[in-house]
Amino acid sequence: MSLSVAARDDSLREKLSKILEKKNIGDADYSLDFFLPQLPWNLPKMFPEFQRFHLELGCGWGEYSREWAAQHPDVLTIAVEKKRKRVFSTIKESRAAGLKNIRYLILDVEWFFEQLFIDNTFDFVTVNFPDPWPKAKHHKHRFMGEAFLQKLHSICRANCRLEFGSDSFEYANEVVHSIASTPGWQNIHGDGVLLPQIEGRPRSFFQQLQQELGFFTYFIQANCIK
Ligand SMILES: C[S@@+](CC[C@H](N)C(=O)[O-])C[C@H]1O[C@@H](n2cnc3c(N)ncnc32)[C@H](O)[C@@H]1O
Repeated sequence: MSLSVAARDDSLREKLSKILEKKNIGDADYSLDFFLPQLPWNLPKMFPEFQRFHLELGCGWGEYSREWAAQHPDVLTIAVEKKRKRVFSTIKESRAAGLKNIRYLILDVEWFFEQLFIDNTFDFVTVNFPDPWPKAKHHKHRFMGEAFLQKLHSICRANCRLEFGSDSFEYANEVVHSIASTPGWQNIHGDGVLLPQIEGRPRSFFQQLQQELGFFTYFIQANCIK
């Protein structure tokens, strides 16, 4: 599946970018607003007070993003989420918590991902419990796979730590195999290894929910090799 509209026709690209522009929050403290002509973002230039950058995809209501950002005040987290209401909610909480190192981007990563950030930007990438799309006919909507890992690789710095979590064994297994077969990524626990959890990091809303309901969870930690 092609994940981005970059190679598709210009009118579709234009239409989707207008939708995203309408969804912009316009919050000087917390939002990174989508505007196609300004891309790719050069985060080190835009935020010279930060040397390290964290990208979280599908942050939902932001419980993980906020706790992670609070634990890493020297790292700027860019938390991406396609649902506007969820972003509003987490911005409110971020402000209440006085967080200074987090920006939210309302974006569907299936629409735009290439040419969003300059190469070699991120030191950490997190994908927590992406929608599992259990029906075979919907698997095409799973965004983590070889093609996406290749795109991710270019915007990650050497030794960037990628963490992925899911309650779907099938999806996690697919991703762990994609990591093994995509050049530039290395599972730090060995090819094909899934962990039941990653110690010492915040638990996302879905992680808590699924674990409390008694479901297994599967995690991957990988490094970007350059
Ligand atoms: C199952 S929830 C997990 C939320 C959070 N990461 C957690 O673990 O609690 C998946 C989230 O990813 C978002 N999402 C799904 N597909 C997306 C896409 N293509 N681009 C951006 N966000 C997406 C959904 O809106 C939803 O908030």
